[in-house]
Amino acid sequence: MAELSLGEGIRALGRDAFLKKLHDEAPLFRDPNGFWVASKFEDVRAILLDHERFSSSAMGNVSSAGAQGGGLSFGFPLLTDDPPRHSVLRALLAKAFTPAAIEAMRPAVEALAHELAAAIPAGEDIDVVSAITSPLPVRVIAQMMGVPVERAPDFRRWSNALADIQSGPAAPERIAAVMELRAYFAGVAAERRSNPGDDLVSALTRVSDTSEVLSDDQVVAFCILLMAAGNETTTNLLGNLLNRLAREPAGWDALRADPALIEGAIEESLRVDSPAQMVIRRATADAEVSGTRIAAGDMVMVYLASANRDPAKWDDPANFELKRLRERHIAFGHGVHTCIGAPLARMEAKAAMTALVARFGSIAPGRERGQRLPGGLLYGFRALPVTFG
Ligand code: HEM
Repeated sequence: MAELSLGEGIRALGRDAFLKKLHDEAPLFRDPNGFWVASKFEDVRAILLDHERFSSSAMGNVSSAGAQGGGLSFGFPLLTDDPPRHSVLRALLAKAFTPAAIEAMRPAVEALAHELAAAIPAGEDIDVVSAITSPLPVRVIAQMMGVPVERAPDFRRWSNALADIQSGPAAPERIAAVMELRAYFAGVAAERRSNPGDDLVSALTRVSDTSEVLSDDQVVAFCILLMAAGNETTTNLLGNLLNRLAREPAGWDALRADPALIEGAIEESLRVDSPAQMVIRRATADAEVSGTRIAAGDMVMVYLASANRDPAKWDDPANFELKRLRERHIAFGHGVHTCIGAPLARMEAKAAMTALVARFGSIAPGRERGQRLPGGLLYGFRALPVTFG
């Protein structure tokens, strides 16, 4: 175990076997590259609760060298912040994500899900990512940010580029795409300053104009965070769930017979195929995890996907069981940074699954193999061919 790095281990053994090996042999694993990997459910929970000793400063920084020195380097406000600044920024967004605000969006999201499902032909290989799992969340977040839904294909392209950059050295066109994304939101923010509306971008520009909390550049980075967080992970959740169901068709039949099982299926998918595989923390002081000393300054990969398969918490943890007794998973994180978009993601996923299950009698894998996302941070599909019957 000790000789393999996290990335090599996943590549060599496959994700399922590697996650099992971590639990069996090294629940707190020192990667040869110097960082720690925490995989036990209780350790992960404890680290995420202890934001004083485990800072988010290392989380979500985008940095990539470009051609002729034209590189990129910026961090996401909120995600990379610790309290007290984190609490101030979180409060800014909280209003848009209250249960009442999400509930008010439900009818429009359900209508959109039905419209997208109705446009999918039966009996043909289709890419479910471009047909529904991507357009649904992209259009919803575009609406919340008050940007034209016609730009949805650009949002998808920009999100993909951002995911690529975060998973390793990126091609020049990917860097160029993220620069385009920054320029786009700088333009939107400037426009909202002179013409504010009732949307998230206007709310952020108001804050930067009236306080020191956010600079103009940070407003742009915040917009990018919302755009990316608002669509990429929900797309991945739906893709992972549909992939499972295409391979285990009894699940589709069960959901058709009893759509009340859909919510449980979504939670089980989040647990067993967590769309955000890990988050990153940096120790600000010496700490002890599972009896091992972590030194101040050390980086810790907080492995949500692994915690969600902890055999101490779930029987046969790698099995996707539709009717599993719902123990709380940790796919949305824990503590002060717990995903603010979780109720929205759940609502969108339920709307999409309800529409698909109502329209189609079956789902099967397409002829082509699905295209998985690169890197170890996000887990999902960039393209997923399936055939609905
Ligand atoms: C299945 C879908 C989703 C998953 C699995 C997911 C996962 C996560 C996780 C694990 C975190 C915690 C990060 C940390 O602890 O460092 C997080 C934070 C966050 N998520 Fe999500 N997310 C999803 C959907 C969404 C949606 C739909 C939105 C918004 C529209 C969103 C916006 C955010 C934001 C703004 C944060 C930062 C919160 C903070 O730092 O206080 N997410 N998400």
